[in-house]
Amino acid sequence: MCGIFAYLNYLTPKSRLEVLDLLVTGLKRLEYRGYDSTGVAIDSPDSKNIVMVKRTGKVKVLEDAIKEHFSGGEYSEPVMTHIGIAHTRWATHGVPCERNSHPHRSDEGNGFVVVHNGIITNYNDVKTFLAKRGYEFESDTDTEVFAKLVHHLWKTHPTYSFRELVEQAILQVEGAFAIAVKSKHFPGECVASRRSSPLLVAIKTKSRLATDHIPILYGKEIRPHGQTRELPVLPRSDSTSEFMPEEKEVEYFFASDASAVIEHTNRVIYLEDDDVAAVRDGTLSIHRLKKSLDDPHAREITTLKMEIQQIMKGNYDYFMQKEIFEQPDSVVNTMRGRVRFDGNAIVLGGIKDYIPEIKRCRRLMLIGCGTSYHSAVATRQLLEELTELPVIVELASDFLDRNTPIFRDDVCFFISQSGETADTLMALRYCKQRGALIVGITNTVGSSICRESHCGVHINAGPEIGVASTKAYTSQFISLVMFALVMSEDRLSLQQRRLEILQALSNLADQIRKVLKLDSKVQELAKDLYQHKSLLIMGRGYNFATCLEGALKVKELTYMHSEGIMAGELKHGPLALVDDSMPVLMIVLRDPVYVKCMNALQQVTSRKGCPVIICEEGDEETKAFSSRHLEIPRTVDCLQGILTVIPMQLLSYHIAVLRGCDVDCPRNLAKSVTVE
Ligand code: G6P
Repeated sequence: MCGIFAYLNYLTPKSRLEVLDLLVTGLKRLEYRGYDSTGVAIDSPDSKNIVMVKRTGKVKVLEDAIKEHFSGGEYSEPVMTHIGIAHTRWATHGVPCERNSHPHRSDEGNGFVVVHNGIITNYNDVKTFLAKRGYEFESDTDTEVFAKLVHHLWKTHPTYSFRELVEQAILQVEGAFAIAVKSKHFPGECVASRRSSPLLVAIKTKSRLATDHIPILYGKEIRPHGQTRELPVLPRSDSTSEFMPEEKEVEYFFASDASAVIEHTNRVIYLEDDDVAAVRDGTLSIHRLKKSLDDPHAREITTLKMEIQQIMKGNYDYFMQKEIFEQPDSVVNTMRGRVRFDGNAIVLGGIKDYIPEIKRCRRLMLIGCGTSYHSAVATRQLLEELTELPVIVELASDFLDRNTPIFRDDVCFFISQSGETADTLMALRYCKQRGALIVGITNTVGSSICRESHCGVHINAGPEIGVASTKAYTSQFISLVMFALVMSEDRLSLQQRRLEILQALSNLADQIRKVLKLDSKVQELAKDLYQHKSLLIMGRGYNFATCLEGALKVKELTYMHSEGIMAGELKHGPLALVDDSMPVLMIVLRDPVYVKCMNALQQVTSRKGCPVIICEEGDEETKAFSSRHLEIPRTVDCLQGILTVIPMQLLSYHIAVLRGCDVDCPRNLAKSVTVE
């Protein structure tokens, strides 16, 4: 999904080439979000104009174009104060091409240039309004109307400040956005805002910051959005408080997420919906037009704990590969400080005060998209068993389509690695409005889902950069297992079962290490499979989720067709696909559904199918059905899914490499899907 990166240096001399370098590095850090084109805007050498470079394709292509474009010595002269903006675009309105790439400009003179993430839903109305006033549009995007709207406001209200102009403009637009605006009429200033799309401001000073918060300025009045015909103008705010750094020299970064700024500073402010952040004369102010009762008076400056090494590839070829191999550690991090193996106790600090309320609920609803949804499927059975409550799992998009009835005594879990997935966030707001208790399960501190939940669990898997989710899945899985264990703490009849699961959790990291040793065997298997068109993945019970997740990984990464099939449904259709040439993978473990899985295996082999089998170590009887098998260590039934999904992650990874696919950024996909 689109990425925004802007850099402002105030009284900290930097040449334009250095600025460009920073912008390109920022974009590289955002690459994992998924994108199809890129662009940057900086000041011209005489500072009288704005120069833009845009390219279709990867950041590397932009980097090369920048080298070519900005070779003159004039670009190496240091400038005391400057603002550069940059963008990775994931096409929504208009095909990926240079014309549609950001930054978008207000006019031929590049008076205002804008980078935007999200969708302006009323862009057609705004466009009509502006077209009537003589504006001509050069792209197919929704973003361009924003740049031109700011320009129109500037012409009609020449005394307005840059921040006020942007504020007036965001009042007219509807939908989701994060924006950063640069203007040649307001040199050295930057204004940024967000509504439903993430955006943060990071601050870098030489010495420690004297404050840990920034007061918010409030306007006096708000008018409804979308009044493009009249363009009502707000009274100007007369507030004065703002953040002024102790020392004069300061650098600011605006970015879609923390991975783009962490190498420069760990001090960030996560903007909230409708915040307008503006930097002028090196001073940052955060302004809101509307004050509601529960609004805080300040935005906190958060200190990030993330380290740069965490977001680098290390010795691995791809982030995804690194993240698969990090799982022995990431699952431990998820349990750290929460599971006490000696006392068999579990505390989930983020939800413990809500447990009595959760125990009284009517039902548990688990809602997510993609891989996050699969973690709900994977743990549903255990949640039913240990909570004795009805557990409903929902795909966020379908849940919203159906206007599903929700009650005050429902407890709704929103599972999302990024914490920003638009469908999941919309479903959260839908349930919150109806009075349900909202529990967020996310991997991103400060994300929208975190902030809008009543309580939650951070899965602590560490940054996940590869678009295809791997370690976040296993950590989401463990978080939900821990929740089930908390819910059953005082059930005498379940104590034996709980102990069995706790015991298995304590062995999990070692068992994952063992499964990862299958890597070269899986690679060999990938060589057998990568030229095929399709792969069917069959299983049932606790391993059905692995079939869905495995098939999703294969589709995402290799562009091959793949289907996760509930083995119980085999006779109701999928068996027709099976013959001696159709690749099939079956998960057959020694658990309560073993006999049924063996039945399915027999049905497949008797149709001349030659499946790859994932089975338990030393299970000769099952292995006898095929020459190709992957043996995994024995664990408790409800945790098998963690061990069985790893060979699937590895398999999709190796097939993708063999097929020459872009492992970390599969075509057409984005890490963080911030549009519905
Ligand atoms: C996208 C990603 C998937 C991810 C899904 C949900 O489709 O490509 O890997 O599972 O979004 O994302 P979330 O951040 O909400 O877990």
